[in-house]
Amino acid sequence: MPSVYLETYGCQMNLADSELIVGQLARAGYDRVPDPAAADVILINTCAIREHAEERVLGRVGDLARHKLRRPHVQIGLAGCMAQHMRDRLLGEASQLDFVVGPDSYRRLPVLLAGGDPFVDVRLERDETYADLSPLREDGVRAWITVMRGCDKFCTFCIVPYVRGRERSLAADAVIAQVEAAANAGYREVVFLGQTVNAYRDRDVDFGRLLRRAAGVDGIARIRFTSPHPSDMSEPVIEALATGGKICPQLHLPLQSGSDRVLARMERGYGVDDYLTLVERLRAAVPGIALSSDIIVGFPGESDDDLEATLELMRAVRFDNAFMFKYSRREHTKAAKWEETVSEDEKGRRLQAVIALQERVAAEINAALVGQEVEVLVEGPARRRAAWLAGKTPQFKTTVFPDQGAAPGELVHVRVTETTAHTLVASG
Ligand code: SAH
Ligand code: SF4
Ligand code: F3S
Repeated sequence: MPSVYLETYGCQMNLADSELIVGQLARAGYDRVPDPAAADVILINTCAIREHAEERVLGRVGDLARHKLRRPHVQIGLAGCMAQHMRDRLLGEASQLDFVVGPDSYRRLPVLLAGGDPFVDVRLERDETYADLSPLREDGVRAWITVMRGCDKFCTFCIVPYVRGRERSLAADAVIAQVEAAANAGYREVVFLGQTVNAYRDRDVDFGRLLRRAAGVDGIARIRFTSPHPSDMSEPVIEALATGGKICPQLHLPLQSGSDRVLARMERGYGVDDYLTLVERLRAAVPGIALSSDIIVGFPGESDDDLEATLELMRAVRFDNAFMFKYSRREHTKAAKWEETVSEDEKGRRLQAVIALQERVAAEINAALVGQEVEVLVEGPARRRAAWLAGKTPQFKTTVFPDQGAAPGELVHVRVTETTAHTLVASG
């Protein structure tokens, strides 16, 4: 039996794609192995969102290529967004590679590999959703389901529309079939994925309706989704969140900047007031909702005042969690043509400023939970404490508590005793 070793970088959508790839290769007779030294095919599923992500992968290709020295039949390839981005350059530059396969070409992968020759297949398809392919998931309690692919927003800093192609949604029936399959396989939580997941639409089924239909599937205890775009946060989606029940009170709502001037140049399609109004509506409709965000510092033209506006907005909203990044210039994008005005050192200082604020706010929000009872979906042993379990609350807060025999997939109620900015410590 041929074997494949697969490593994944980037966002959840890439993880879900890796599960699709493994499923597709399994049907063609491949066995997934945890050790590259035992693999006939070595595949790296890559991310292109920031330059640093790409540098890491190029280094990793060098490491993994040594497996070809003694076993020259081994095929090493790149999949995913960076494969799409660097296409032709890759087979030349990092010549240890045998193949390059873009995000819309995974269906063809077994056939291409069987050919044995080097190949580049990076055709972006308008309609490819892989709706009919069954992913081979890792064990766990949470199943990721990609419900829409691509992005049509073209924010000026972002490479995604260029590497993932046009926006397209899976048929609603196919999504629900996947939710049912996940429930039958024992998963307790589903997370719907898409770069602008709330722009989902299949004829008359919008994202709000899709969430409600999914909530009707027996066996699934929790439903989440990521990433919604603030501009697509329509009333039906807010109403679906407000129904509560399985649809978790948690939302990742990428802000990027708290300055209207910067948001306009990013072409995000909303301003500070729109964002704040949306946050108010969400908090009124969904009591206790946890909000997280993405922030970029050092965008071309970002002034000290713009940074202060971002800090101000973060203080006003008080996110439960945030992912914060230094702007990274990406080829093809509109912003790539603009002069970078913020030095690398200054980007570092700005990043530290937003991180310090966010850590403080997150620690305060969590500290206020001490004494409260929370419901935790048990995932398994805690990473850093022997004889402790870990899981997530409906608000997606990691919670650890002493193991009193709860199994993964069980919902338990525990009381918060201590907190950090990122974890709740609880007792039964
Ligand atoms: N579709 C999501 C974001 C997906 S990319 C949305 O629109 O909200 C995840 C995050 O990476 C973005 O929210 C942004 O904060 C960050 N990011 C994207 N391009 C970047 C770049 N060129 N430099 C730095 N960060 C970037
Ligand atoms: Fe990138 Fe903007 Fe699309 Fe998000 S919405 S993936 S940031 S272009
Ligand atoms: Fe990266 Fe592609 Fe996701 S660029 S963030 S892996 S969609």
